[in-house]
Formats: sequence, structure tokens, C-alpha cells
Amino acid sequence: MPSPEANPLRAGLVDERLPEPCSIVIFGASGDLTKRKLIPALYTLAVEGLLAPSMAIVGFARKDSSDEAFRAEMKEACQKFARHRPLDEAVWETFAKGLFYQVGDYDDAASYQKLKARLAEIDLARGINGNRVFYLSTPPSNFPVTIAQLGAAGLVSRDGQKPFRRVIIEKPFGTDLATARQLNRDVLKVLDEASVYRIDHYLGKETVQNLMVLRFANGLFEPLWNSRYVDHVQITGAESLGIEGRGGYFEQAGILRDMVQNHLFQVLAITAMEPPVSMASDDLRDEKVKVLKALRPIPEGRFDEFVVRGQYREGTIAGRRQISYQDEPGVTKGSKRESYVAMKIFIDNWRWAGVPFYLRSAKAMPKKVTEVALVFREAPLRLFGERASQGQSPNVLAIRIQPDEGVSLRFGAKVPGNTMEIQPVNMEFRYGTSFGSEPPEAYERLLLDCMLGDQALFTRGDEVEASWKWVSRIHQAWDASTGDVESYEAGTWGPAEGDRLLLRDGHRWRRP
Ligand code: BG6
Repeated sequence: MPSPEANPLRAGLVDERLPEPCSIVIFGASGDLTKRKLIPALYTLAVEGLLAPSMAIVGFARKDSSDEAFRAEMKEACQKFARHRPLDEAVWETFAKGLFYQVGDYDDAASYQKLKARLAEIDLARGINGNRVFYLSTPPSNFPVTIAQLGAAGLVSRDGQKPFRRVIIEKPFGTDLATARQLNRDVLKVLDEASVYRIDHYLGKETVQNLMVLRFANGLFEPLWNSRYVDHVQITGAESLGIEGRGGYFEQAGILRDMVQNHLFQVLAITAMEPPVSMASDDLRDEKVKVLKALRPIPEGRFDEFVVRGQYREGTIAGRRQISYQDEPGVTKGSKRESYVAMKIFIDNWRWAGVPFYLRSAKAMPKKVTEVALVFREAPLRLFGERASQGQSPNVLAIRIQPDEGVSLRFGAKVPGNTMEIQPVNMEFRYGTSFGSEPPEAYERLLLDCMLGDQALFTRGDEVEASWKWVSRIHQAWDASTGDVESYEAGTWGPAEGDRLLLRDGHRWRRP
């Protein structure tokens, strides 16, 4: 594999980090995530010279297959989904030599013994000293048994010694507070927290990390980042696709579990947290968990004032016909499962007292966009007269997480001419234009960090529990409610009730 120095894509990077050789075992290797994200991300790391050449990847699943068939399937996947295409045949050839397949059952002790023997063989053949990462990418119902079997087979242990044994756990981590707590207990029976990597791929997104850089590597923004200057905050995670054939899953999850409890709450925590004492993983996670613990619980019986849920009906999105949620395969007729949620949250701490944070996430919106927008308080006095002030609007700092990754600042400017007229204008930073390249895929960063033993961009057990604690009360209220879910036409920005949530406070959702 090429060295980082030889690789023009990495040229100029001073903080190059190379992980020690290890084996990565992917449980659930026949699934979509392995094909679409995990193997393409690992291949891209190989292209960029960021993997030890002796590294091994073992796909584990129930389906009968072979090393050769797995390699062929993964090659096709990389040709389709890897960031650098067409495939670099020379890199692929070396990479593919480290790809293996192991058939097995998740609840069968003998399968883990076979896996153990296979890993020992691979270690010997490739000169790996026993370092291992186990990636749990199976349906979540298999997480507890896989973790218990890994412990029983002696493949992981609680001693945290070298060679390292780390476990990455995909989402969802539980479906409510009780199940998340149970899963944490199951995990901590066989592993110490320092070996647990709960993944939330939003933390691997370049722009989510840039939120921290924007705040803490600049002197300009942080002094304004509080209730004195910020009027309110809007966090949007909108997608234009419907549930895309995932009816079975989505009927259980809904958008609140699928996007808000994890992805949007992580973005919220990073937006609202105090500066950590360092960027070390626990310092960072300590600050995030403090935000999640400070979320004001919605007062009993007043959920409708703070949370709106909606479900899409038929509509058109960018010229494409979208069937209604009710007609999606796997959806039970009359289902009240939400594909849209909007909420108002207060963070009861010194910095944010009284500042509403409005969050919304939905499927079947006009476009895919994720952004955080800080809307600032207006200037204390309108100095330029009635007419001029008509165009005046609050300053907005918008951090665009995706697509068109970047940051924009809206402020009022004088319209050229002999009269005084004010119009809002935007100052823009775009990743593409400033750096001339697209940001890397979240999974590349996260897999690399795990191999390097850096947990900063993974969620800790207490964080997951704190966010479930807040979110589970909404599910309980919905379960007990006889009220209906609001309907919205696919391809619109959601139900009118979602707009009213802000209008009542004198605000409007941004139309990104
Ligand atoms: C996943 C959800 O976690 O995140 C999906 O299960 C959603 O429903 C996806 O589409 C969004 O991720 P991204 O990176 O495309 O914003």
C-alpha cells in the first residue's frame, strides 16, 4: 500500500496518524452497511495510505460464502460506493489480500471458537500481534448475544491490556431508556468503557467537527455564543427521500428514534456545550453529557405545546412522485408512526437560560439538508428610519452540515444608491471552494479513530442514556395519547402545526 508521504491526497498533512496493524471483524458482513459504507471507507483509507499494509478484515455472517466470493462482492461495492473512483487496481489487490470471510451464527459458541482460530491463523500469516476491532453491524437484536459470545470465547476482556480489543456498536443503541441501560450493562459485563465505541456517524462528519473548530479555534464567535446575544437556535435534519422500503424498521423507530435521539442530539450537544478543558475524549464527552442532562423535561401533560409529529402523504419531491407513508411496504394501515418531528427545547444552564432550541427532522421534505442556525438578537435601536429598517432582519450564523458544507453569516447591508435602504446579504465559506476537495466520509474518520484508540467522536454510555431519558418521555406521551399525527404533503416543509410551534414565539423556520 502507498505510504502517506507518497500519496498526493495526503500531502501537506502534518498530523498524519497511522494505526497499528489489526484485524477488523465485521459482524453482519452481508448487510447493506458493509457494502455501502464500511468496506468502501476502509478501502479509501488504504488508498490514502492510512492503513497498515498487513491489516486484515474478516466479514462474519450467517450466509454461506467464501473469501473469494466476499472479495469479488466487496470489489463491486467499492467500484460503486468508494470516494475515490475508478478503483486503483494496485491498491485494491493488496487490500483484497487482507479480506476474509467467516460463516457463523451469532448465538453459536462454536462459531466464535472457529472465528478465534481463524483470527489466530490470520495473525500468524500477516504478522498482526492480536489487535482486534469487532464491528457490530447486525440487526440490534443480535447485539447482546454477540457481545456475550465474544466475552465467553475470550475474544474480548475487561482488562484493557495490549493487544487491544475494541468493539464498535452500530445504532440504534437501545430503543428507549430501559433498553439502552440494559445494553450498557450487557456491554460492560465483558468490556471496559475504554474499549466500547458506540457509533453515531454524524460525529464523523467533517462539518460537525468544524462546529467545534468554529467555536473554539476562533476568538470571534464564542463571546456571542450565549443567551445574551442569541435569540434562538434552529437545528434541521431534513431528507427528501421517504422511508425507502424500510417500513418494518421505521414502524418501530419513527424519526424521533431514527434521527433525533442520536444524530440531532449530538449536533445539539456540540452546539450548546461549554469549551472542554481539552479535546481528549472524556473531556469532550463530559461537556456533551452536561448539555443533555440540562435539557428541561417537557412538563407533564404539555407535550403538544413542545413537540409536533407528522406523517407524509402522497406528493411530489423535485419532480419525483412520492407515495404516502401509509402506502409504503411494511407499514400498518392507520399507523401513527411519525416521519416528521419538530420540537422546542430549553437548556437549563447558565449559558442558555431562556433560549429556545428548535429541532426538526423529517423524511419526504423538499430537499436533503442538515444545518444549525444561530439567530441573533436584533440591534437595540432602529437608527435608519422606518423604510430602511423594513429590510432589516436578524443576523444568522448558519453552519451547513450537508450538502454544500460550509458556514454562512447573514447581516444587513446598505443597498447602493442615494437612499438608505437595508437588505440582508450573506458572507459565505464553502468547503469545496476554499479547500478544493470534498470532505471525507464519516465512516473513514470513525474507523480510523477506533483503530487509533481515540473515542472522542464516539458516544459514551452516560450520554446515550441521558438522551434516551429525555426522548423516552415523548414516546410514552405519544403511546398514551389518543391524538392524531399531523399529515403533510410529501415535498413540503411539514405540517402547519410545525410552523405554528415557532410562530407562537414570533419566529419562523428557515427555508434552507
Ligand atoms: C441513519 C438513519 O442513521 O441516518 C437514516 O437511519 C438516515 O434514516 C441517515 O437517512 C441519514 O444519514 P446522512 O449521513 O445521509 O445524513
